[in-house]
Parts: sequence; C-alpha cells; structure tokens
Amino acid sequence: MFIESPRYTERFGSIRMNHVQRVVALDSGRKSELPLHGAMGVMKIEEETIKHFEDRMAIVIPVKDEKLKLIEGVISGVPHDCLVIVVSNSQIEKVDRFRMEGDALNQLCRFTLRQALIAHQKDPAIAEAAIEAGYNGLLGEDGLVRNGKSEAMIIGLLMAKASGKEYVGFIDADNYFPGAVLEYVRNYAAGFSLAQSSYSMVRILWLYKPKISGGVYFKKWGRVSETTNKHLNHLISSKIGFETEVVKTGNAGEHAMSMKLAEIVPYASGYAVEPQELISIFENFGGILSSRERKVMEQGVDIFQIETRNPHLHEEKGEEHLDEMLLSAMSTIYHSPLCGEEVKEATLTELVNRGILKEGEEPPLVHINAPLKEVDTKKFIKAIQDDFHRYQVLP
Ligand code: GDP
Ligand code: CO
Repeated sequence: MFIESPRYTERFGSIRMNHVQRVVALDSGRKSELPLHGAMGVMKIEEETIKHFEDRMAIVIPVKDEKLKLIEGVISGVPHDCLVIVVSNSQIEKVDRFRMEGDALNQLCRFTLRQALIAHQKDPAIAEAAIEAGYNGLLGEDGLVRNGKSEAMIIGLLMAKASGKEYVGFIDADNYFPGAVLEYVRNYAAGFSLAQSSYSMVRILWLYKPKISGGVYFKKWGRVSETTNKHLNHLISSKIGFETEVVKTGNAGEHAMSMKLAEIVPYASGYAVEPQELISIFENFGGILSSRERKVMEQGVDIFQIETRNPHLHEEKGEEHLDEMLLSAMSTIYHSPLCGEEVKEATLTELVNRGILKEGEEPPLVHINAPLKEVDTKKFIKAIQDDFHRYQVLP
C-alpha cells in the first residue's frame, strides 16, 4: 500500500506520537517504484512486509450479542495468516448465541483451513486461570470474569500470548464492511513496520463515519471521539505548555499493540479502555511522572495514527451508550494523576453541559485492570493451555 510518511512526530518524554498518516492507496503493486524514494512524503509498504507482520499477529474480536452476519463478515475480512481470537460475552441461556458464533466460526475455518480460537468470557476455567495467576481484579462478585469489552481484550491478549503471537490487534465485531476490516489489519501491519521501538501501537482513524437518516451523510467525526480528543489534547497541552492537537484517536476501538507494549499497559474496565491506554502511556513514559520501566524509556514508545480509506460503519447503539462512553472517557482524564485543576474543570463543564452529570457531581472512578506484567501470566497460560483444545475451532 501507499501511505503518507510519518512527517510530524511529537515527543513527550520517551513517547513518539505521530500525527495522522493517511492511506494514499490500498495497493502499491509489485513492481511500482516510488520516484525519488519517499520524496513526495509517501511511502510504499511492500506486500511482503505486510504479510510478515500479519503472520505474527493475533486479531482479537470482542463480541456481545452481535448479529451473526456481522461477525461472519468481520472474520471473513481478517487476513488469512492472522490468528483469529473471538472472546464472547453473548447470551448462552434460552438462545445459545455463543454456540451459534462457534458454529459460524467453525464453518469459515473449515472452508479456508485456518485455525482460530473462541472462548466465552464467563467460562469458569478462565476465571480459575485468572485466580492461579493472581489476576483476581479481573473477576466480579460471582467469581467469573467481569462484563466489559476490556476484560474480553485481556482474555484475548493472554490467548494471543499463549499462541506465541508478537502483535495483537483488536477489531469490533459490529463492523459492517469486511473490506474495512481487511484494511484495518493491513494498516496495523504498516504501522508496526515503521516502528523503531519494540513497544509500539497503531490506532485507526476512519476517513468517514457515515450516518444514515434519509440519505447517507459522510460525517468525519463521531460526537464522542471529538470530545474525547479535545480533552485528551488539553490534558497533554497543559503538561507540556504548548497547545497540541496530535491526538485524533482517543476512542479508537480499532487499535493494535506489540505484545511487549500490551503487557505493560493497564486496561480500564468497559469503554474507558481506549482513552485510558493513551493516558497510561503518557503517565508512565511521558517524562512528567517518574517511570520504573528503564528499558521502555530507552527504546521509547511509537504511536501511529492511521487514517483509513474505507468509511467506518458499525451498529448504532443509541444515545445512552454514547453518554456512557463519554462519561468513562472523561473520567479517565479527570482521575489521571496528570490532570490539573483547569483540565478537571473543563471535563466537568463538558459533562454538566451535556446533562450527563449534575452540578457538583464528580465522574465515578473507573475500575482499572492491572497490566499483564503484574500478574503471573506463565501460570495463566499454563492453565489455559491445558485445555486449549476446547478453545480451538478446528480439532
Ligand atoms: P462502540 O463501537 O465503541 O460504540 O461499542 P460497541 O458496543 O460496538 O462495542 C465494541 C465491541 O465490543 C463490539 O464488538 C461489542 O460486541 C463488544 N462488546 C461490548 N461489550 C462486551 C463485553 O462485555 N464482552 C465482550 N466479549 N464483548 C463486548
Ligand atoms: Co460499535
């Protein structure tokens, strides 16, 4: 593919945060050469390079009661060499949706001879493995893994690690276009190929997020993302003393990390997870608070934000869901040790103006799951490897 070179990079401590890079063309051909290598600010990412990273990547798909057709579409869009890991929290009683998801996945895998893993978030064996590993924070009062997308991401991460993958990407199950999924993964690979550090992250920004009401309107920004980005940039600006607008992907559900980075960031519960990842990286490696991770400080952390060619169309889940997302995003900013009075005030005003909080209320603290490095992942992996065959889609 052809992609804009990372021309503008902001440095915060040991973080190299790149401004948005657009995908210029989805394919760059086998023979085409760039005139004056990269001189036009455009780079060619070779097909072989993309395949190299896809082969080392697991794609984790969190699912909760999505339409089967959507899930099938998403899986069909994931490049063949990636390991697909579905972590589902779908209903089992009455209608066993989880079983239907497994059957659909099994059929796709048989047709295309690929291996995949599927697990249920409430599988007691996973809760037991978490206890063995000392990951009790992952569990709810009933002793099973808590509800939430980030908890599903963690299970996916551990399974990816158990399968020896070096990179892990996340893709929501409610994407309408398999072609967009294919592009997300290729963009992940492109980003990783540009990283200097082995601690790297790629976040997807979509060109358009169409709204359908009468006609189709190609909207550039979702309401929640726009607000989240504004306040995240405000938080960073307040710390470095220069205004920046570098963050454009605060809520990017579609994002990927090298396993080495994925192991050291904490995961906020539910929908707070994506902004929290960025905030935690800023807290730990932004050079403002002290860091205990010498190796990471030396190598740095590379963050790429890549703008897709495909528009993003997913299931609309209503106003209430948007308010919940915004509240958790604002809460992660508000409660960060980086957050000063001015930024706190701004987030509160935002929430009060939108009627999400009342005057005088504070955003509730979001539960944060410890990074994998703080638990005994070896024990966890050993425990799930013992019944890996149960998670494998093909025997
Ligand atoms: P949005 O796209 O950010 O508005 O959020 P969605 O509600 O679409 O959720 C993103 C993805 O996470 C979708 O694929 C959901 O099916 C999935 N998801 C949401 N909650 C849970 C959960 O508790 N467990 C699992 N495993 N997946 C979830
Ligand atoms: Co969605």
